[in-house]
Amino acid sequence: MAFIYDEPSRTFSEYLLVPNLTPKDCTPANVDLRTPLVRHREGMSAPLYLNIPFASAIMQAVSNDTLAIALARCGGISFIYASQSIESQAEMVRRVKKFKAGFVVSDANLRPDSTVRDVLEVTQRTGHSTIPITHDGSPNGRLMGILTDRDFRPHKTPLHTPVSALMTPFDQLVYAKEGTTLSEANELIWEHKLNCLPIINDKQELVYLVFRKDYDQHREHPLELVDSHKRLLVGAGINTRDYKERVPALLEAGADILCVDSSDGYTEWQYDTIRYIKETFGENVRVGGGNIVEDRGFRYLADAGADFVKVGVGPGSICITREQKGIGRGQATAVIETAKARNAYLKETGVYVPICADGGILHDYHIVLALAMGADFVMMGRYFARFDESPGRKISVGGRMMKEYWGEGSDRARNWQRYTLGNEEGMSFEEGVDAYVPYAGRLKDNVELSVAKIKATMCNCGARSIRVLQETARLTLVSATSIREGGAHDVVLKESNRVDEP
Ligand code: IMP
Repeated sequence: MAFIYDEPSRTFSEYLLVPNLTPKDCTPANVDLRTPLVRHREGMSAPLYLNIPFASAIMQAVSNDTLAIALARCGGISFIYASQSIESQAEMVRRVKKFKAGFVVSDANLRPDSTVRDVLEVTQRTGHSTIPITHDGSPNGRLMGILTDRDFRPHKTPLHTPVSALMTPFDQLVYAKEGTTLSEANELIWEHKLNCLPIINDKQELVYLVFRKDYDQHREHPLELVDSHKRLLVGAGINTRDYKERVPALLEAGADILCVDSSDGYTEWQYDTIRYIKETFGENVRVGGGNIVEDRGFRYLADAGADFVKVGVGPGSICITREQKGIGRGQATAVIETAKARNAYLKETGVYVPICADGGILHDYHIVLALAMGADFVMMGRYFARFDESPGRKISVGGRMMKEYWGEGSDRARNWQRYTLGNEEGMSFEEGVDAYVPYAGRLKDNVELSVAKIKATMCNCGARSIRVLQETARLTLVSATSIREGGAHDVVLKESNRVDEP
């Protein structure tokens, strides 16, 4: 007969934190959310840290280069999704590594012999009205001129007119050389009343564009997560099939950390993948593993050499794995049990392997619960899919603004490498849905609000760091009736109080 656990597995919403004494110096301004991202010897510092305990999910609807840049600027990390070609994933990683605040790599470029017809196509596709003309039409080709929407009349200028006849040629352009700082670029923009300043290298090749509006919008990002060259940190998902080709391309593009993305990480394929990476590229190439839900899975991946271990089978908002296959575990229990295994591993080996709670975070307080239960950071999909920077389209549904959000196991993403085992190819059934989430605006504004709530809760728990929270927090299970007590109840809400679920 099968082994049957005595206790049911539980979800985050079944727990609450009990306040601890708050010392006077425990205020939100004094709370530090820095957290280790990868394995390290106890007492030593980890080679990689996050400044806030947030990672974005390895999903088509979540982690592209735009979101990765926005999140790293706030102190967290994205893992660029693996369910795309190796080339396009590597290109996304490259764009994050090349990012410099206020300096944009142009994505709307044409050649001198392109025509007005091409211009209209590019402006429609990209939404940009400043088009650098390079010798080969590439973003970093030799700069020949610049064309803007003020250089031609859409319905009057003949469509076959070559761009070279309309553009401002290079010898009449104001430009700056590579190495120019943002404030120097801004001076030139004001002095010459420009909208856009091209930055070129010694070979006259276009490197960046600096726009007037970007400088105006430039704000401080004190928690920005950067490497030793001040480039943003970025992760990338991989699978257990094409890692021998994908990993070198991602490393070459500059990925700082990898993560094997699988719905079931307790497999020999995952073990082989992690071992191969460590043996081929060395211990300094960092790779996380998962997903698992208990001590055996944790131990197996930690022994394989995983730099962090991701926890969660079935809690995801778009996930139907539990319904389809009857596999999984309540996410709170999964995190608690894995954290116990992590602590036992630490005691035995002196090595700390961070764990990540992946999926099922519905409220900001769930993040604090996950941390208190032992997670070092959380991974979220639904949360980030709601923001401007995510790849999904923003659309009006029934009069409300929504963003598209679809699972990696849905028919839309068809990420069979994540869901099938061994040599199987393709998916015979879905494990995820295609959905909408309420649009929530800019990532930065939302992350700052979540961080404020997390810090406030940690102060109630008397914890100025995640480590102290993990060691001293006290959690209580709540009854079904007391969950009702937790929201506004027994009052008639005024319209202005009716806020949407986050
Ligand atoms: P969320 O934050 O609750 O939306 O969960 C996101 C997590 O769900 C991801 O990080 C994945 O671990 C998992 N996930 C992504 N796509 C699917 C799917 O199609 N089925 C099941 N789980 C998924």
